[in-house]
Amino acid sequence: MIELKQVSKTFSSDGELVNALDNVSLTVPEGTVYGVIGASGAGKSTLIRCVNLLERPTSGAVIVDGQDLTRLCEQALRRTRHNMGMIFQHFNLLSSRTVFENIALPLVLAGQSKTAIEAAVAPLLELTGLADKRNRYPAQLSGGQKQRVAIARALASQPRVLLCDEATSALDPQTTRSILALLKAINRQLNITILMITHEMDVVKAICDRVAILDGGRLIEENSVEAFFVSPQTALAQEFVRSAIHEKPVADIEKHFQPQQTPGSRPVVRMTFVGDSANDPFLTRAARACDVDFVVLQADLETVAGKRLGFLMVEIMGDDAAIESALDYLSTQLKVEVLGYVS
Ligand SMILES: Nc1ncnc2c1ncn2[C@@H]1O[C@H](COP(=O)(O)OP(=O)(O)OP(=O)(O)O)[C@@H](O)[C@H]1O
Ligand SMILES: [Mg+2]
Repeated sequence: MIELKQVSKTFSSDGELVNALDNVSLTVPEGTVYGVIGASGAGKSTLIRCVNLLERPTSGAVIVDGQDLTRLCEQALRRTRHNMGMIFQHFNLLSSRTVFENIALPLVLAGQSKTAIEAAVAPLLELTGLADKRNRYPAQLSGGQKQRVAIARALASQPRVLLCDEATSALDPQTTRSILALLKAINRQLNITILMITHEMDVVKAICDRVAILDGGRLIEENSVEAFFVSPQTALAQEFVRSAIHEKPVADIEKHFQPQQTPGSRPVVRMTFVGDSANDPFLTRAARACDVDFVVLQADLETVAGKRLGFLMVEIMGDDAAIESALDYLSTQLKVEVLGYVS
């Protein structure tokens, strides 16, 4: 649906060159919600602005629906942009226009008739839960309601793609959840592909199917959200996942870690389990079958991409052979990492 091929973007500011995007390639499959995460300044907004060519890449291709947008003339580009709605962190509504008029704006600009506009906007007011607010002005709305207006406006021209740049970061957690639920419903019901730029892992956890990380303008990791949470590869990805599952450093234990097993030492083990294995009583089974005990050091259960995902850090106690068979057994059931040994 959307494909970036070796996209680079260099800005020059005060005589200095900034590589905001450095050879970024990624593919957003049709119908998915695709998250792009990264720290402030990583190039996220530049990336999303390159997708609809609000920002022209210095090099590389931006292919949407099989068309390389960098090769289109201004007029063809304007037509293609109609297929892409965009929403922003700060809503960008016109304060002198009502909710209805804000949503209708793209249709007014496109020269549509009053009847056509009424027919298009009324269902959007329903979809976004704003039917009773149609004659209010932005100043009379909460942040969440303003973002709903912005979403409805982005949908007015019936786009196939929705580009969202930090669409929830100005909202409180509860409002964020309701906006994310609305975006997911739009993705499912209208089959609209969504590219979500965010620095919040909660957004990725809640609605994304795939995720990519930008770091200093480079795309350093890309995966399905499930695989990303279970096996993050880069240090930055591991940090994002640890924050999302509320994993804390165990400094008091790590000080005493030995890298190798010695007679009588006990492994400290990190386990990650997803989907069906989250419902499995693997710990008690291992305890019974292998005659070991577990001390739970940290634990968390989350819902990620609609699946249960668990994380557990334990110390395993027992004699050496029992510990080894428990580790063998657990490794067949879930992802097991031995962090070190304590004695
Ligand atoms: N118009 C511009 N002129 C010069 N430099 C720019 C311009 N736009 C962005 N940059 C620089 O490019 C880099 C990436 O900026 P970008 O806005 O894409 O980051 P971001 O990941 O969206 O950050 P944030 O999370 O803070 O929104 C930054 O170093 C920024 O200063
Ligand atoms: Mg940004």
